[in-house]
Amino acid sequence: MDRRLNVGIAGYGFHGQSLHQAALSSKRINVVAVLELDTSKHKAISGASVVPYEKQEDFFRHSGLEAVIIASPVATHRELVTTAAKAGIPIELEKPMAVTYTESLQAAEVADKYAVPMMVGMTTHYRPEMQEADRIIASGELGDIRTIHEEIVIGLEPEALMGYVAEENQGGVLLENGIHLIDHLLWYGGPIKKLLSATISSRFLGGFHEDVAMLHALHEGGVESTSHLQWMPYRESNGFKMKLYGTKGCMEIRGLDGLRINRGGSVQDISCYQDTGNYIEHFAARHLPGVTNQLNDFAGFVLDKKAPLVPLQHVLEAHKWLDRAYMRARRV
Ligand SMILES: NC(=O)c1ccc[n+]([C@@H]2O[C@H](COP(=O)([O-])OP(=O)(O)OC[C@H]3O[C@@H](n4cnc5c(N)ncnc54)[C@H](O)[C@@H]3O)[C@@H](O)[C@H]2O)c1
Repeated sequence: MDRRLNVGIAGYGFHGQSLHQAALSSKRINVVAVLELDTSKHKAISGASVVPYEKQEDFFRHSGLEAVIIASPVATHRELVTTAAKAGIPIELEKPMAVTYTESLQAAEVADKYAVPMMVGMTTHYRPEMQEADRIIASGELGDIRTIHEEIVIGLEPEALMGYVAEENQGGVLLENGIHLIDHLLWYGGPIKKLLSATISSRFLGGFHEDVAMLHALHEGGVESTSHLQWMPYRESNGFKMKLYGTKGCMEIRGLDGLRINRGGSVQDISCYQDTGNYIEHFAARHLPGVTNQLNDFAGFVLDKKAPLVPLQHVLEAHKWLDRAYMRARRV
């Protein structure tokens, strides 16, 4: 039987806790330690066998620690990647890798220099509806994808999601969710040739960083994409949506839900999750299966030397275009 990888989670906030919860459904991951500077969060750690640490040096010396998942704020990623790499500990780095493309390249170089396996936690690739979308596209049912429209619109209520707007986070919606958005555009639209336009604005949340960004891109194979990122101070009603229009049919990915596919005029809804009725439970029930799949992929990457689903090079390419969006965007 495949054995479990003993991991430590660095950063036990919103996502660190989701990772821990998702790990409980994994047969390949065992959480043995947590690094969290805010000791008030140590009591949220479930499981008597999980050791909480406040100091980085003690965490990395935890007996039996085989790998680290870095789920701390983006500005701390560089230091944690460097420490883990120097200690020879494989890394699962949560997105975004870093604030800039240059720093993301540096993180990849450090892992490479110390020959430490590193993958980036691009959770959405692992979600059931995205995997179903992949299968449908690969089957050729939609023909050639010609245009894409994507929205990642997040309502920062309920309370649990407020961490997204922490002032010290450096970037706003373009950094935090834009990395997913560009990843999806590259994934389904192919390499980007040119960013035709980009705008950034602050319209909802008091303005310490961007809460709206709009992009319009031309891809090398001729696909044209438009996209919309947004955070606002109430519960969203649309969330993540991606519409892919092909020569034979079109498909709407309804993030954390399912798919609506139109095959030459005949529309079908495909549901990928069971509805629990309660918003918080509903979010967890939909978010966590993808996180568990991602953790299993990480265990396979480290223990079985399998290539991860999302190559590091792909994530670096997304960071390159994220940087360009920041550089070229008109502030409106
Ligand atoms: N893949 C996903 O689905 C997903 C979802 C949400 C967040 N994220 C990513 O996870 C990371 C954390 O986001 P979050 O929403 O959990 O933020 P958060 O603010 O809720 O949690 C971060 C935690 O890290 C702790 N911390 C700060 N500095 C630290 C350090 N040097 N070492 C250890 N812990 C430290 C903080 O005290 C806090 O508890 C970000 O990179 C974010 O983009 C990924």
